[in-house]
Amino acid sequence: MLLSSFEDNHLAKMIYNRLTNSILVLLFSISLTSLFGQDQAAIEAGKTLFKNKCASCHNKDMKSKMTGPALGGAQERWGDDVALYSWIRNSAAMVSKGHPRAVAIFNEFNKGVMTAFPELTDADIANIIGYINCTAAGNCPGDTPPPPTDGGGTTASSGNSGSNTMLYVFLFVILALLAVILARIIGNLNHIAAVKELGAEAPARKTLAEILTSKGMVSFAIFALIVFGGYFTVRNAINLGRQQGYQPEQPIKFSHATHAGVHKIDCNYCHDGARRSKQSVIPAANTCMNCHKAIKVGSQYGTAELTKIYASIGYDPKGDTLIKNYDKKTDKEIEALYKGWISENYITEKGKMDSEGEALLASQWDGIVASLTDKESGDTKIQGPIEWVRIHNLPDHVYFNHAQHVTVGKVACQNCHGKVEEMDVVKQYSPLSMGWCINCHRQTEVKFADNKYYDNYYEMYHEQIKDNKRNKVTVEDIGGTECQKCHY
Ligand code: HEC
Ligand code: HEC
Ligand code: HEC
Ligand code: HEC
Ligand code: HEC
Ligand code: HEC
Repeated sequence: MLLSSFEDNHLAKMIYNRLTNSILVLLFSISLTSLFGQDQAAIEAGKTLFKNKCASCHNKDMKSKMTGPALGGAQERWGDDVALYSWIRNSAAMVSKGHPRAVAIFNEFNKGVMTAFPELTDADIANIIGYINCTAAGNCPGDTPPPPTDGGGTTASSGNSGSNTMLYVFLFVILALLAVILARIIGNLNHIAAVKELGAEAPARKTLAEILTSKGMVSFAIFALIVFGGYFTVRNAINLGRQQGYQPEQPIKFSHATHAGVHKIDCNYCHDGARRSKQSVIPAANTCMNCHKAIKVGSQYGTAELTKIYASIGYDPKGDTLIKNYDKKTDKEIEALYKGWISENYITEKGKMDSEGEALLASQWDGIVASLTDKESGDTKIQGPIEWVRIHNLPDHVYFNHAQHVTVGKVACQNCHGKVEEMDVVKQYSPLSMGWCINCHRQTEVKFADNKYYDNYYEMYHEQIKDNKRNKVTVEDIGGTECQKCHY
């Protein structure tokens, strides 16, 4: 009798202990998965795929049409994931099979053909659809609000959206409450077991305060704090300096849409470095002067913007010469010179100087001063190179080489920078995150054909492809995901 009651208790205790352990493990795995955002990783992956494969035809706001329809709500419209997945892999096949939705949307879009994506796995498509749905609903996890474009070149960086932080706090509170309740239940059960075993000698039941200040609870709280603190610190550190969508105002209203778009000037004409070197380089004013020696008054801003180029290098647009000893000229002399040019053009156009002209003159001169002087240092001297606001910026510990991608990899500028030739003001199109680089390296096949840079790889992989040991070679296969390739 005594023995069996002892065994009973022993068993009960063992069960409680097991229970406690597994609950704690469960709690931790729940909190860890929510913390490190499985969801967010999936959405990020979906976003990258969408950008690389779908964004050329489908609007990324998911709400308006482009070449293809707005994708928000597409999943509901199809109502059948199997059909939807087949559509995305090969829409033409669905149309020829006569699937009603496929035929309807195909006709609605004037029989435009959507690219086939046989390479997408179910998981890829699920991620893309996840991204489409949350974008349409406006609740994607980890959304970074675009930084302010106040023109000051400030780097906004507080990445967390408020709703996300709230979610974590909420989760934490729930978990903490659960932990307390469980501790209390376990305490009670332990007490009952002890009473059964030891009778009156059993220690008194622990009060809530005792439980809260017990060693276990305190170390749990400290641990949780470290995990949360570490998590948010790392998250903020990662988001620091990451600025997808960053679109600062530039000192001169230089438009890629005008230059690279309308006038079809080749990117390499100005960013010659991209083909040859690590850096792509912003062109110096001399490059601008190749054309703006001749085009001195613009059709859009007249003298307002182009005069800034002249004032920065000391070019006299009236005499078509470089001003001698420009750096020795006083602010007053410089002002007189360029105001002269601006008013001369106004008079040529309007016949005479009037109050409207005076106002224009003053405002254009203010614009030139604001663009070419450094407000922070208080320097009023109008000279020196144009201080373009840098948009793309990888951290120092990352090695990125333009020539490697543009010349060896034959990757088009637009893959990474978007349709710059349509932008009036350049905007950072890609996240420039590590996941972005790696994703592309995993997905992109190396272009071996007619590529002298790959001769030695070619031998080896050609054999394997011939023997059907592999059907493609990606950048990852040639080492593009090894840490030291990208990190110093
Ligand atoms: C070359 C342009 C193009 C690309 C790239 C493209 N689509 Fe489309 N998509 C279309 C067009 C056009 C339609 C309208 C149907 C048609 O004319 O074939 C369409 C229709 C759709 C539909 C049906 C929408 C509805 O309301 O029923 C879905 C879903 C879709 N696309 C998803 C995708 C996804 C996902 C990707 C990227 C993996 C993608 N598309 C890439 C052009 C494109
Ligand atoms: C006429 C010269 C010219 C041409 C042609 C030109 N660019 Fe630019 N580009 C500039 C100047 C000047 C800047 C700096 C001002 C700005 O950001 O708009 C710049 C900035 C950029 C930036 C942002 C750099 C940063 O700060 O991170 C990118 C990316 C870029 N250009 C890509 C392109 C691509 C792609 C093309 C071809 C489609 C192209 N450019 C054609 C002159 C040019
Ligand atoms: C290959 C020739 C070429 C080069 C190089 C070039 N531009 Fe232009 N730019 C043009 C043309 C053409 C126009 C359109 C003129 C018009 O519409 O009146 C233009 C227009 C502009 C305008 C708008 C003027 C207005 O008022 O409408 C600005 C500002 C400008 N360029 C700045 C620059 C800067 C800064 C550079 C150097 C980074 C540069 N351009 C290099 C050809 C060039
Ligand atoms: C594989 C992606 C990729 C391709 C392709 C690419 N760029 Fe870039 N570009 C980047 C990244 C990443 C940066 C930021 C580099 C840094 O901060 O060191 C950048 C920066 C720039 C800059 C800012 C100056 C600099 O070099 O840091 C310019 C201008 C630019 N790119 C123009 C171009 C042009 C023009 C092309 C096509 C000829 C091109 N890029 C092709 C990824 C790319
Ligand atoms: C649009 C696709 C794309 C993106 C985005 C991209 N890469 Fe690449 N990358 C390539 C291709 C294609 C090659 C192959 C060129 C070669 O073999 O040298 C390559 C090669 C490289 C290599 C040489 C690898 C080797 O084994 O020699 C490095 C380093 C590299 N990329 C760094 C980066 C970094 C850093 C980023 C992100 C900032 C990035 N890449 C983003 C397509 C991309
Ligand atoms: C294809 C290029 C590439 C490869 C390969 C690569 N990284 Fe990165 N890594 C990056 C870029 C780009 C960043 C900067 C991300 C940012 O600023 O958001 C980065 C950032 C980091 C950071 C800083 C934290 C962060 O996200 O900013 C760490 C740590 C890191 N990488 C470790 C590694 C390790 C370990 C490996 C090998 C398993 C590796 N990287 C391989 C491109 C690469």
